[in-house]
Amino acid sequence: MWCLSRGVAFAKASLYNADSQNSPGSAMLRAISSAAVMLLAGDLAAHADGDAALGKKVFNRCVPCHEAATDRDKVGPHLLGVVGRKAASADSFAGHYSQAMKDAGAAGLVWNETNLAEYLKAPRQKVPGNKMAFTGLASDDDIANVIAYLKADPKP
Ligand code: HEC
Repeated sequence: MWCLSRGVAFAKASLYNADSQNSPGSAMLRAISSAAVMLLAGDLAAHADGDAALGKKVFNRCVPCHEAATDRDKVGPHLLGVVGRKAASADSFAGHYSQAMKDAGAAGLVWNETNLAEYLKAPRQKVPGNKMAFTGLASDDDIANVIAYLKADPKP
């Protein structure tokens, strides 16, 4: 969060500077600043550190369908060690994955933090046709926190 606020403050400052220029180059400067903002935002999203304890609470929304601390499957596959796992690769759930999820895994989709964040934000967009009956998490903080929990659990 500290990094995030600093990054945003920096981005705002550079935008402000660009706006305050009245030279013909100011549009160009503005464009460069916006590019910098996007780069920064992307970088921050990729490295956002979540809070595992808060993530455990977010995970309550997944609990009806997923177990993360053991390899027991429910309606959904177990999520023990899911961070870094290939999509549709829990052997115990092999007969239950949708074709869409199996195809995504076969095409090389790995649940790294970026892909997980995108999937949890919009499951149906990230893997069209997958059968997870969950609309997604709206809050980026919730997403970062639940990923931190999945990464940390079940380690003490
Ligand atoms: C209503 C039940 C349900 C809820 C709630 C749910 N899921 Fe799922 N999830 C599923 C099902 C079913 C699948 C398998 C999808 C498929 O094969 O198409 C799945 C798949 C996944 C996968 C891919 C696993 C793999 O082995 O490839 C991840 C990651 C995942 N869910 C995370 C979550 C998280 C985190 C939450 C809570 C924020 C959540 N899910 C909420 C049912 C659910």
